Amino acid sequence: MPLVEVEKLNVWMAAGGREVHAVQDASLTLEPGGQLAIVGESGSGKSTLLMALMGLLPPNATVSGRVIVDGVDVLEGPEQALAALRWRTVSMVFQASSNPLNPVRTIGHQLRQVLVFHGLPSAEARDRARELLEMVRLPAATEHYYPHQLSGGMRQRAVIALALACRPKLLLADEPTTALDPIVQAEIVELILSLKKSLGLALVLVSHDLALVRRMEGDLAVMLGGKIVEYGPLARLMAKPGHEHLRTLIAALPDFGEAGRDKVAAPGGGS
Ligand SMILES: Nc1ncnc2c1ncn2[C@@H]1O[C@H](COP(=O)(O)OP(=O)(O)O)[C@@H](O)[C@H]1O
Ligand SMILES: [Mg+2]
Repeated sequence: MPLVEVEKLNVWMAAGGREVHAVQDASLTLEPGGQLAIVGESGSGKSTLLMALMGLLPPNATVSGRVIVDGVDVLEGPEQALAALRWRTVSMVFQASSNPLNPVRTIGHQLRQVLVFHGLPSAEARDRARELLEMVRLPAATEHYYPHQLSGGMRQRAVIALALACRPKLLLADEPTTALDPIVQAEIVELILSLKKSLGLALVLVSHDLALVRRMEGDLAVMLGGKIVEYGPLARLMAKPGHEHLRTLIAALPDFGEAGRDKVAAPGGGS
């Protein structure tokens, strides 16, 4: 059974007396442990689609279609079922500039707080918090730091640790490296991909930048104006793009063409 099934999803957003058709007839499937990259320019509906997966659309949204995550009907389900789904089954990492960390609590405190909230005894929460920091390759002492005492990249690692606290089956990453330096971007993407593998997570990674996801495994969905205009195995689409828009995106890659293909390292390629 797929972990995620989206069927003809439509989302309209009311804004200033008119409606924006933010997501149009979107359908996709993700198997447990699977991987999907979503790319598209700003405003193409990527974040709205992810919010729909979390059951977190804003009150001004109208929806049609079906979204099933781990057997739960996210659009119809009672709030109780959705609350159980978030954090435990589906977790989300937002872009680095909108970090969800509390500025007046240490990183360790915030990790323990989430763990205790989800039922772990406090002694176990302490150990698990340390384990999480190690998982995202932060020094153990980071638990004593406040968010502002960390670099942007370290803060984003802490955010990832928080997202993984309750061992979710699905991680949604919405432009997780935007606003970070290019080298740090590559490190964070590499971290997310390696955690995905070692923890057996399903991953949806959203980016406006095809260069960031171009070498990923799994599927690719390309969004344009609220529609998924291209969807299929990433490697195949990169080699044989069908839609005009994807061809344009590929042509705009800095090392487009055979000769330059290996000049730019893949995300996680180490440079
Ligand atoms: N809360 C909201 N209220 C009104 N319109 C919104 C809201 N969120 C997004 N939109 C609109 O929906 C469209 C898709 O936005 P979004 O999903 O954020 O795109 P992306 O993440 O690809 O940049 C845009 O036209 C945007 O202006
Ligand atoms: Mg967005």
